[in-house]
Formats: sequence, C-alpha cells, structure tokens
Amino acid sequence: MKNPPKRYTVTAALPYANGGIHLGHLAGAYIPSDIYVRYRRLRGDDVLFVCGSDEHGVPITLGARKEGITPQQFVDKYHQLMKGSFEKFGISFDIYSRTSNKIHHETAQEFFLNLYNKNDFIEETSQQYYDEQENTFLADRYIQGTCPNCGYEKAYGDQCERCGTSLSPKDLINPFSALSGKPPVLKETKHWFLPLQNYEPWLREWILEGHKEDWKSNVYGQCKSWLDSGLQPRAMTRDLEWGVKVPLRNSEGKVLYVWFDAPIGYISATKEYFLNKETGTRSQDAADSSFNTRHTSSWEDYWKSPDTKLIHFIGKDNIVFHCIIFPAILHAHGEYIVPDNVPANEFLNLEGEKLSTSRNWAVWLHEYLIDFPDKKDELRYVLTSILPEAKDSDFSWKDYQARINNELVAIFGNFVNRTLVLTRNYFDGKVPPANELNDLDRECIHQLNTIPQKIAESIEQYRFRDALGELINLARTGNKYLADNEPWKLINTDKVRVETVLNISLEITATLAIVSQPFIPDTSAKILKMLQLENVKWDDAVGKRLLKTGHQLGEVALLFKKIEDEEINKQLDRLHATKQSAPLQPSEADNRKKEMELSKPEITYDDFSKLEFKVGTIEAAEKVKKADKLLQLKINLGTEVRTVVSGIAEHFSPENIIGQQVCVVANLAPRKIKGIESKGMILMAEDENGKLKFVMPSEKISDGSSVS
Ligand code: 2FM
Ligand code: ZN
Repeated sequence: MKNPPKRYTVTAALPYANGGIHLGHLAGAYIPSDIYVRYRRLRGDDVLFVCGSDEHGVPITLGARKEGITPQQFVDKYHQLMKGSFEKFGISFDIYSRTSNKIHHETAQEFFLNLYNKNDFIEETSQQYYDEQENTFLADRYIQGTCPNCGYEKAYGDQCERCGTSLSPKDLINPFSALSGKPPVLKETKHWFLPLQNYEPWLREWILEGHKEDWKSNVYGQCKSWLDSGLQPRAMTRDLEWGVKVPLRNSEGKVLYVWFDAPIGYISATKEYFLNKETGTRSQDAADSSFNTRHTSSWEDYWKSPDTKLIHFIGKDNIVFHCIIFPAILHAHGEYIVPDNVPANEFLNLEGEKLSTSRNWAVWLHEYLIDFPDKKDELRYVLTSILPEAKDSDFSWKDYQARINNELVAIFGNFVNRTLVLTRNYFDGKVPPANELNDLDRECIHQLNTIPQKIAESIEQYRFRDALGELINLARTGNKYLADNEPWKLINTDKVRVETVLNISLEITATLAIVSQPFIPDTSAKILKMLQLENVKWDDAVGKRLLKTGHQLGEVALLFKKIEDEEINKQLDRLHATKQSAPLQPSEADNRKKEMELSKPEITYDDFSKLEFKVGTIEAAEKVKKADKLLQLKINLGTEVRTVVSGIAEHFSPENIIGQQVCVVANLAPRKIKGIESKGMILMAEDENGKLKFVMPSEKISDGSSVS
C-alpha cells in the first residue's frame, strides 16, 4: 500500500478575469474543491488551496476592446469582482492571486527558458492569419469562421462553442477577423511549438496505465481519445501585445500562449503565498489565518516533493490542458510533480438551457449575494446536491426552493431544532445521560457510527453528491428516531427514557455539526455554537461521544428559513428579463436602476402633441467610420427613405437589424453627426443593465403609420 501523502496541493481553475463568477463556475470547480479542502483541513492534513484570476489571453483583450478600456483596467475590474465574490461566499482559498503579477511573469518566463534551453521547443516560421485593417495577427479567438465539424458559423480559432471541438485557426471555413469582420490574409511569423507527440509514450503510461482506476471516467475517456487520435506540436507563443513577454531576444510583440502561462499561475500563487508568509505580509487573500497553521515552510514542498498529492479541480473544457499539456510541460521541466487526480466536472445548465455569459443566461454570484446575503449555505447545499459529476446537470430556481424547503428546512434544520428545543424545555439545556439502551437506540447509534466514514470515503473519491446524500441520511435517521420515540409524549410518563432519547439525538446533532462543515460551514459553526463545542476535528465524529452528561448548551436559533414562491418568482423574472443583455457589476446595475428612476419635468399635452412619431423599416445599416457607437441607418417611412444616425452600434450588428420595424420621431430638426445629416431619431428602451431594445409595434404594420 502507498504511504499516505504528507501534504496536498489543491488548485481550482483560474477563472478568466472577463466577467463575474456564475453558478456554472461554482458547480464546476469551486464548490467541489472547497468541500475537499475543508474536509482535509478538518482531518488535520497539510493542504494548500490556490486559485487566482487568469488575466491573459484573447478573451481579455477582446473584452477590454469592447468596453473601450485598457486590458490592465479591464482585468483590475474583474479581478476585484471575482475575488470579492469568492471572499464573500466563503471559498476558503489560502491565496487568490492573479497572473498579471510580476512574480507570475517571472515564473512563467523561467519555465519557458528552462524548456527552451533544453531544446524542448521546435522553432517554426509559418503562415498565420493577419488582419490588414487592424495590423495584427489573429490568434485563437481573434479569428472566427465556420466550424468544419458542425457548421456553426461563428466558431472560434481555438474552439467551436457549439460542438466543443478543439480547433486551430486554419481549420475554420470562411475565416473572418473578430476585430474588423474582414477575411484575413496569411502572413509569415515565427513561433515556438511544444512537440506534444514526444511526450505521448510517457503520457500513455502515466494516464492510461497509471490512472485507469482512480480517474473519473469522463476525464480518462477524454484523455484516451486525445492520445488515440495522435498528439501534434502546439504553439506555446502568440503574436499579441498583452501577456507574458517571450523572454528571448528579437521576440518583440510575442507573448506566451495563455494556456502555457495560466496553469503555471498555480505555482506562482504558491510562491506568492510563501513570500507573504516570510515577509509577514498578512495576505488579504487568505480566507482564514487558522487554515494556514499546518503549512511547511517552502513553496517547493508543494510542487516538487513526491510526498505531495497535487489535485486540479476544473470544468470539462479544461481537461486537455490539465491532463495533457500542463503535465507535459511539468514533465519536460523535470523537477515538478504531476497531478495525482483531475476530478473535472461536466457542465451545469440553467433552467434547462445551456449557460451563456454572452446571452446573460446565468445566475451571477455577486447578484445572488446581494439578494440572499444570508443564504450562502443554502446555495452550497443545492449546488452540491446537483453537481455535474458524471454528466451535465440542471439548476432551476424551483428545484432550489424545493431542496431548501424539503431537505434543509424540513429534515436537517427540523431535526437539530427539535433536539435542542426539547433539551432546553425538559432539561434546562443540559445534556441528559444515556440510560439503558433498546434496539431502536442501538440501530440509531450504528447509523451514527457508520455514516461519517461513508461520507469520508465519498469525499476522498470526489463523489460529493453521494457524500451530501449520506449527510442528509444522518439527519433523516435522527428525525425518524425522534418520531419513533415521541419524547414529547413520553416526558409525562418516562423521563428516564427521554433522557436517553435526547442524549442520542444530541450526539447525532454534534456529529452533524462536524461532518456538515465541508458542505455548509456557516451552519456547522452555528450548531457548534449552540452545542457550545469548540476545536472539533473530523475524527471526533467517528465513533466517539462528544457531549458529556451535564454539559450546558447555548441559545437555540433556527438554522434555515423556508423560501417563499415570491422570492423564486423574482429571480425567474429577472433571469428572463435580462436574457441577452451583457452582465454588469452590481454598482453599475444599481446606478442604472437609479437612472431609470429619474424622471424628466412634467410636460403639457401641447408639448407632447408637437411630436410626430412614425413606423418605419430599416432598409440599410452600416457602421459610421471612426465612431464605435454609431450606425448610419436608412429607414423607409412609407413615402420617403430617411437617413438616421443612431448610437446603437454597441448593441446591434448592422446585418442583424435589416428589416427591423422601428418607431421614429419624424419631425425632429435635422442634425449633422460625424458629417452625416441625420433626419429623425429612433425610439429605444433601455433596461436596468443598459441594454437597448427597439420600441416597435406588436405586429408588422405599414411603413409610415403614425404612432400616438
Ligand atoms: O477556462 C478558463 O476559465 C481558464 N481561465 C482556466 C484556466 S485554469 C489554469 F490553467 F489556469
Ligand atoms: Zn462545431
């Protein structure tokens, strides 16, 4: 049998700093990793939990361009948003770092140079797509076109978002630039490729022979299919301005491929954590200083010691990078350990539809925390019970409500509350003794002694849903035990028996408090406080008595409240109303709401009657040169075609609005905008997220119809 590891390095995928954290992220990587880490800490294991923002790559530069700010401003904004959400939600990272940090750039460059100096890269000049209008090479998501696999017309140069196929730019049919929309030309450029095929024999042995039994079948299956289809050299550099600079002479304008630098971010975050510790800088990122007491002194122990178990928690779209490419890089370097396991989850859908950030079909954590600041454990509970561990799963608000009301409130909360209230009422809140045991007691104690071990085994095998199911089973056992014994009836005739029943119920409550900690930590803390128990460990929950007879319990408080239909309907309404609009930060959304509340001064009917509104159809639309926000429209008003310049270019693509009927203020005096005479204005509605929608007749009517 293998020796148990001396320490654990647990990583959770570095999210791109281009938006908020949504429920899909939580269910993919952050809740499973947090449960695992909390469990390990409770066992007294030395575990380091690292994460941070992934701040490079094309999603960042494209996002910054869209918002009209620099990439640094862009990542600063989203790094703060994500870090804040994780902290408020209580994901217990030891450090939440970021890849724009100096230490990360240095670490990634050292890695690159290490491989470069060993001649591990192939240097190759090849033809790459180039946008002549924007004077830039088009890497990854800068290039779009038709997917050769499924025919989707807006697939990216690195992946088709519809069918999930991994692509390279030259696979795309009818490629076009994501910047100018124009077809690209081919131009020569030099890059450094990692010949993945050279690592194939090692990867095959390590994964296919070494991890057939212990890796999840979805992960193992994806790796096998990659390896069976033959690995190809993969470029580890890009022609971009934003990223970690290639540390070689004559390589201006070239940066490391984001998937080369991002996983190294786990290592640089570890270095940063230890540097902070050495210099006594209390890391703002550390979730709780008490977590850190068991760490040894060197970052290298966590990455280079064979006694360390490295575990990467990720979503399924990251499997190839964490199981093939990053391990190949670590192996090529030679000094590093490779992951022991990569428990990747499948995807979480929302209300039966695929989550989509671009269509804003998502529940954002920062918004959830505003609406439900006291329901963090409730969300952790619901998401854990539906984790997409083996296949995609679905979050729905109705199911959220049902699980909270029928499980947390009716089973878990109800059992704990009844036990504590009865003890308070019958025994002044002092733990009564256990007297003579009968068969019901013995059966209940058997469950109490075996369930914690089942929970532990499930967690260690990354089966968090099963583990949570066992936790609820323990509360169910407690409820049934109370119902079978009816202490509220017995109290008048057999107080000695009631003492035993409540003693056992209190032991179940104490065990629940401990074993629920990884899943619902705030609730666990509340129960421990009510029980007046401190410094508990996981092992205390396994076959031990936790409460001495006569021990004084604390005040009783309710653990969970029922969720009413109203709260759920509000969430559903918002989800549907904001579909297709871009996510905003809470502060922006709040400002927008305030703007919506503001009203203009009152006007008379005469003022209103001066306006002439007409219905028209957009016949042509094009972008106005050197003006990001403007579109020049030709609108048919029945008797004439008007030119109208409208500030809607950030919300609509010209080709998508041809044929759209709109309402026009037809008697507005002409105005010159960017040298174009604009005659009229179209009516738009703006939602609380700042997204514009056309105001239009409910069904098509003749152009020129007047609106009153
Ligand atoms: O898919 C993503 O969101 C990536 N930013 C994950 C990176 S994980 C690690 F390699 F950094
Ligand atoms: Zn496709």
